[in-house]
Amino acid sequence: MFRETVLVGAAAKVVEDEVGTTTRAPSQPAKTFDAFGRHIHYLRISLTDRCNLRCVYCMPEQVTFRPSEELLTDEELFAILHVMSRLGFDKFRLTGGEPTVRPGLVDIVRAIAALPTTREIAMTTNGLRLARLAEPLKAAGLTRVNISIDSLDPQKFRRITRWGNLHDVLEGIAEAERVGLRPIKLNAVVIRGFNEEDVVSLAALTLEHDWQVRFIEVMPFADVAAFQQAAIVTTREMMTRIEAALGTLQVENEGKLDGEARVYRLPGARGTIGFISPVTAPFCASCNRVRLTADGTLRLCLLKDGEVDLKTPLRNGAREDDLEAIIREAIWLKPWGHDLAEGVIPMNRIMSEIGG
Ligand code: 5AD
Ligand code: SF4
Repeated sequence: MFRETVLVGAAAKVVEDEVGTTTRAPSQPAKTFDAFGRHIHYLRISLTDRCNLRCVYCMPEQVTFRPSEELLTDEELFAILHVMSRLGFDKFRLTGGEPTVRPGLVDIVRAIAALPTTREIAMTTNGLRLARLAEPLKAAGLTRVNISIDSLDPQKFRRITRWGNLHDVLEGIAEAERVGLRPIKLNAVVIRGFNEEDVVSLAALTLEHDWQVRFIEVMPFADVAAFQQAAIVTTREMMTRIEAALGTLQVENEGKLDGEARVYRLPGARGTIGFISPVTAPFCASCNRVRLTADGTLRLCLLKDGEVDLKTPLRNGAREDDLEAIIREAIWLKPWGHDLAEGVIPMNRIMSEIGG
């Protein structure tokens, strides 16, 4: 509460000083703020709601995807990205579903790299297609990848992903590292009854490899929420398991968040271990992002249903200035944070439609 008050104060100052949410001195790039004074400059782009896996914590096996005419075309996507660049967005992440199943992915990366403000283009992927795609993606301007891997045991990996072959992911990781998509970050969602013991072997990867292995608390969405809430393993429990087997986790980064993760290191380890705790330790105060869904809405918070439709105005002929005004106003109204603690669960989409 205290922090919220301070930030509201900061926001009031932004309003007074800047009139509106975007400032643009002649030679400086624009900056876009929300009403809480948070500088919003990171766009996560869901390129498709489809996926070549069916992870139990993400989607039902019999999921139905959106018809492709509901998805943004490349041209529509580029029009929105151009406006985001005008608003000062400099960090982009490609997500899905599974971004590597989107046709034309390499050209999309090249187009983002060509935006005048771009500093970083990352991608979150299940890694299945990386052995083939890592090299062309790197050449097109991709900076790095986060690869999902929930277990190092092939049977357990298959059980969690329903369809996945662990070997393909391991090859994808090796190729991403070889072509320099670094630092390599691995994501594991930890699910009771599936992989809570696997945190130890996954954490142990950091002893030998200069990677960041990140453990994520599962979040509840729509139809899958009951399963997700029953299966949650807290960060605290994960840390206890890792420390019991591998030694004390030493705080890195002076305890400051690295993106959304709190980072630690095992004694003598080459890499680091991150914990992402959206449920037990929300990081909303430092949120700097919004999301573009594959069907063209701007989603202001992962865990809240509020969205602004960009596709309809685009298809009705909106000009860049119109789009910029719509996006700026939407960002200004970005909610402070989620209400999971009060039992409010996002209901209108599952994770694969938002892109994590
Ligand atoms: N809660 C937390 N993380 C999730 N992911 C997918 N569904 C959930 C969920 N319900 C993760 C994936 C991947 C990234 C896209 O989000 O494992 O790392
Ligand atoms: Fe696909 Fe990722 Fe969802 Fe698994 S978590 S089903 S890989 S989108």
